[in-house]
Amino acid sequence: MSITLKSPADIAAMRIAGRLAAELLDYITPFIQPGITTNEIDKLCYDYQVNVQHSIPAPLNYAPGGHTPYPRSICTSVNQQICHGVPNDKALKAGDILNIDVTPIKDGWHGDSSRMYYVGQVAPHAKRLCEITYECMWRGIDQVRPGATLGDIGHAIQVFAEAQGYSVVREFCGHGIGKKFHEEPQVLHYGRPGTGLRLEAGMVFTIEPMINAGRREIRQMPDGWTIATKDRSLSAQWEHTVVVTDQGYEVLTVSDATPPPPDFIRQRSHGTAKT
Ligand code: MF3
Ligand code: CO
Ligand code: CO
Repeated sequence: MSITLKSPADIAAMRIAGRLAAELLDYITPFIQPGITTNEIDKLCYDYQVNVQHSIPAPLNYAPGGHTPYPRSICTSVNQQICHGVPNDKALKAGDILNIDVTPIKDGWHGDSSRMYYVGQVAPHAKRLCEITYECMWRGIDQVRPGATLGDIGHAIQVFAEAQGYSVVREFCGHGIGKKFHEEPQVLHYGRPGTGLRLEAGMVFTIEPMINAGRREIRQMPDGWTIATKDRSLSAQWEHTVVVTDQGYEVLTVSDATPPPPDFIRQRSHGTAKT
């Protein structure tokens, strides 16, 4: 096990990468309309990163052990797709829910964030899944402070998701992040309080729960990357990169237009969710 603690200078650099991730998600927001294809979204994000941000899209050609290189700059997971959806030439249609997951690299540091987007008018049950998943992420973030454990984070997410009648995907998790895209530790989105790694100031990791409306089982699509629900139920995901601070946490993947935290966070946060 080697978990790198980030120095104040490292965190300052990661704040910049994190802001670029959030600003990229802001930039793409008005383009998410019926008729656009996920390949067109990918191209817009690539061009913005390379020409405007001067950042590198980490997913492009990313090839962790055993995988064929990822062929796009972002992940776009639609409806029953859980994560790692590969952009393609199919047009989005009104009623779709879409996760866009971006990871710019700036000065060697990674910022990893994803949000849910509504395509046109979306059914109430689909909106509810997206909103509850957002609250799942924040209930996980709310646990982050020195002395808490990774199990505390996973537990907070799992109990809330399951109380709403949803299920938590087990095969994919949050992760340490820094100069590498995926570092230790693994941050599971289920678990038991007081178990697992104890958090220390300077740790940086993502919290990115994948919540299914139906059963938790997954299937991999023939493209070798896209993961979908086995029962074809809808799935949602949100992701932030956070650093453990002396007081609690700081969310690094924020911009001026970041969606605000839920009210329960604004009321009693020990963290700094700068929005
Ligand atoms: N951004 C994803 C995450 O949150 C990882 C995508 S890997 C890719 O960890 F190769 F699919 F891009
Ligand atoms: Co991630
Ligand atoms: Co991500």
